[in-house]
Amino acid sequence: MSVKEVYLNGEYLPVSEATVSIFDRGFTFGDGVYEVIPVYGGRLFRLQQHLDRLQHSLGEIRLLSPLADLEITRVLERLLTNIEGDASIYLQITRGSAPRNHAFPDQVQPTILAYAQDVVYPDQATREAGVNAVCFPDQRWERCDIKSVSLLANVLARQYAHENNAAEAVLFRDGKLTEGAASTLFVVHEGQLLTTANGHSILPGITRELVLELACNHGLSCQQTDITENQVKTADELWLSSSTKEILPIVSLDGEAVGAGVPGPHYHHIIRLYDDFKLKFRNGEVS
Ligand code: PDD
Repeated sequence: MSVKEVYLNGEYLPVSEATVSIFDRGFTFGDGVYEVIPVYGGRLFRLQQHLDRLQHSLGEIRLLSPLADLEITRVLERLLTNIEGDASIYLQITRGSAPRNHAFPDQVQPTILAYAQDVVYPDQATREAGVNAVCFPDQRWERCDIKSVSLLANVLARQYAHENNAAEAVLFRDGKLTEGAASTLFVVHEGQLLTTANGHSILPGITRELVLELACNHGLSCQQTDITENQVKTADELWLSSSTKEILPIVSLDGEAVGAGVPGPHYHHIIRLYDDFKLKFRNGEVS
């Protein structure tokens, strides 16, 4: 891992000096939230959307941000001065350190951590080959719209995928698709692009929003709706999207080919639109 400098509670430190108390509630209870923000050409991609989602997560767990959006932005920009090329930012805020007791402590200072790290975004070969995925029950809690650091169910799902030679676990709850262990899912079915509607059962993905924007602006019929297991299994195309994976085609699910077993025409279309958008972003033409 290539982290050079860490921002922790007001200080910029080398990794070896950035330490957190064993009583931090992020450590003992998973009582905190986070964001992962892509960086292209030294610029923070869709920053305002990530900051808005962070505020949503903080609000839902009743944690007051220790820093205003502008201050967070300054911190992230300072961290980027150490990074060359593309990267991603990890930003985490926990309720802070206090003697172990489930209810909120009366007096506590939130812990805020951020660092930038080099990231290799999926290359052309991966996009052309596509990835494998496996189905897995969604065992998470009922507030998946909160980007919580309590990720045990996501970890177990992703590990199941890993052990089955797959890049992602496709999660189902009550016979309906929710999302991936760490990604949004898109289904092309009968010529329509489907994705699960935002709500408590999924994270409102920032990449998801952009994919929908691009697809809808370019004439692909999009629907945010319930998606059945059968629709997923008979999909013409299946994609995953996230800040670190961008958009990837899933070409096999539980060992069965998705559609023709190769990235489909809609994928080729959307990834071209996405790359065009990224290029404009790098050139400062869009934010
Ligand atoms: N995860 N759903 C879940 C459960 C996720 O963890 C993520 C991203 C997404 C996609 O959201 P976005 O497009 O905003 O990255 C959907 C990040 C990358 C992570 O945990 O590392």
